[in-house]
Amino acid sequence: MSNYTKLLKNLEDLKLDKMRSMLPEYLENIKKNPPHIIDCLLKLTEEEIKHQTVRASETLIRAAAFPFKKTLEDFDFDFQPSINKDEIYDLATLRFVEDKSNILFVGNSGVGKTHLAVALGIKATEHRYSVYFITCHALIMKLNKAQKENRLDKMLRHMCQYRILIIDEIGYLPVDKEGSNLFFQLINIRYGNKSTIITTNMPFSKWSDVFYDATLANAVLDRLLHYSSVIRITGNSYRIKDKVEEQDTKKKIGGNYV
Ligand SMILES: Nc1ncnc2c1ncn2[C@@H]1O[C@H](COP(=O)(O)OP(=O)(O)O)[C@@H](O)[C@H]1O
Ligand SMILES: [Mg+2]
Repeated sequence: MSNYTKLLKNLEDLKLDKMRSMLPEYLENIKKNPPHIIDCLLKLTEEEIKHQTVRASETLIRAAAFPFKKTLEDFDFDFQPSINKDEIYDLATLRFVEDKSNILFVGNSGVGKTHLAVALGIKATEHRYSVYFITCHALIMKLNKAQKENRLDKMLRHMCQYRILIIDEIGYLPVDKEGSNLFFQLINIRYGNKSTIITTNMPFSKWSDVFYDATLANAVLDRLLHYSSVIRITGNSYRIKDKVEEQDTKKKIGGNYV
């Protein structure tokens, strides 16, 4: 076996897939003007790191169970001037994950809460943080089921492993006494340990209507808000953007609409 074949095999064994695949062409390209060995290794290892980062992010994105894949670059900040773009990009530095701080997106339906939560989640996967996305309703069903099957502790520990847990749509459905208790337990375990991102259409003052009683609602809010950024979005729904634009156009040209 030639040394070249041995090298290819070593790269395969070490799972350095990118270096393995780019090596033949790379060697061909540098034949005429070979760079210093350090520069060669630097180039090859940089490409390998890039490749592995993308692969890790793809795996983490699959595990995160996002409802869609949208990024911050896909978000039209001009459409939603109530959002401070700098604040969102500051959150995208992911300092909040290291600080174990939370983010709460509050606003009506369609204003981009889930989009921004997912975008920050995707950004986090690029830095190899584990993320899990779940609606509040599905989360409570999961916790309820685990409790019935005597594996609540295990489930809570599992849910506490994610560096970011995104709990979507708090407030769309009321939560009963048992569900409220379970939800509190989860938030309490993550409090100060891991970051949680919340989206809600309910102002915090109305959370006592969502959870079983005001005491539980306050206990949950207390822990979520202690280390947190609250992003309040007050604009129009993006879902009806086209309808509004259509109406505006009709208005401008003097058309009627019902
Ligand atoms: N400012 C925006 N720029 C681009 N797309 C947006 C914007 N706001 C919302 N969307 C899109 O509109 C849809 C509804 O947004 P979503 O984040 O689900 O709203 P919410 O969670 O606040 O109800 C999604 O497809 C989302 O990607
Ligand atoms: Mg949403």
